[in-house]
Amino acid sequence: MNTRIFYKDENSVILQGDMLFDERISENHIDLIVTSPPYNVGKNYGKANDNLEFGDYIRFTYNWLKKCYGWAKPDGRLCMNIPIDTGKGVQRSLGADITCIAKDVGWNYRTTIVWNEGNISKNSARGSFMSASSPHVIAPAELIVVMYKKQWKKAKSGKSDITKEEFLEWTNGLWTFSGESKKKIGHPAPFPVELPKRCIKLFGYIGDIVLDPFMGSGTTLVAAKMLNRKSIGIEISDEFCELAFRRILKY
Ligand SMILES: C[S@@+](CC[C@H](N)C(=O)[O-])C[C@H]1O[C@@H](n2cnc3c(N)ncnc32)[C@H](O)[C@@H]1O
Repeated sequence: MNTRIFYKDENSVILQGDMLFDERISENHIDLIVTSPPYNVGKNYGKANDNLEFGDYIRFTYNWLKKCYGWAKPDGRLCMNIPIDTGKGVQRSLGADITCIAKDVGWNYRTTIVWNEGNISKNSARGSFMSASSPHVIAPAELIVVMYKKQWKKAKSGKSDITKEEFLEWTNGLWTFSGESKKKIGHPAPFPVELPKRCIKLFGYIGDIVLDPFMGSGTTLVAAKMLNRKSIGIEISDEFCELAFRRILKY
């Protein structure tokens, strides 16, 4: 079923529904996609199933990346916030797997930023304590994989609003800032505004159209609004659409 318009103003649009079936967004329309897809680690998103068989998750990943590829302009860019690995049951190299699937779809690889969010507790399970028997490594970091559709260089000139200090700091591919509080935002897996803010300022011009196909609590739309970009968010859960709507109105 096609998505429905949940909210629309001159800068922001919220579409409620399954992004795989959206027919509202035109082909070759989007300048920049900033998103964090479901990681398939059993989060409770209400409507969306985050506990698929691995094969089904891989097919889902291929399909959403293909859909995004169609929506992107030829010089459109994709910033995917994904984990390095996931450890639910079997250890999987999810970051590498999703990157390879994106390349299969047709996306071109540009770079990977490592986001050091530094939030693992000392008590997290590390396997066989002080023994080589079966230690478990956990990284307090995630990836932001940056890709583009056909050409990396922007086709048209535009106005950037990044400062010299920001440019120098953010083109260093290790970003350090804290994760977002689930409790404060009211969503099981929000990223902090700092993440889409940096992606939008570094990779997009003022006035660009930014899309988050897995909008969640609307963080990308909040950052886009703060930075005078137009944005579209798609979210399957009505409850999270409502949450995003309330967050956008505050700015
Ligand atoms: C990792 S969360 C994104 C969180 C977001 N970055 C934020 O800051 O709040 C993924 C979101 O994708 C939504 N979702 C999962 N499958 C979807 C689909 N097929 N279409 C649209 N939304 C979907 C989930 O409900 C969840 O809110």
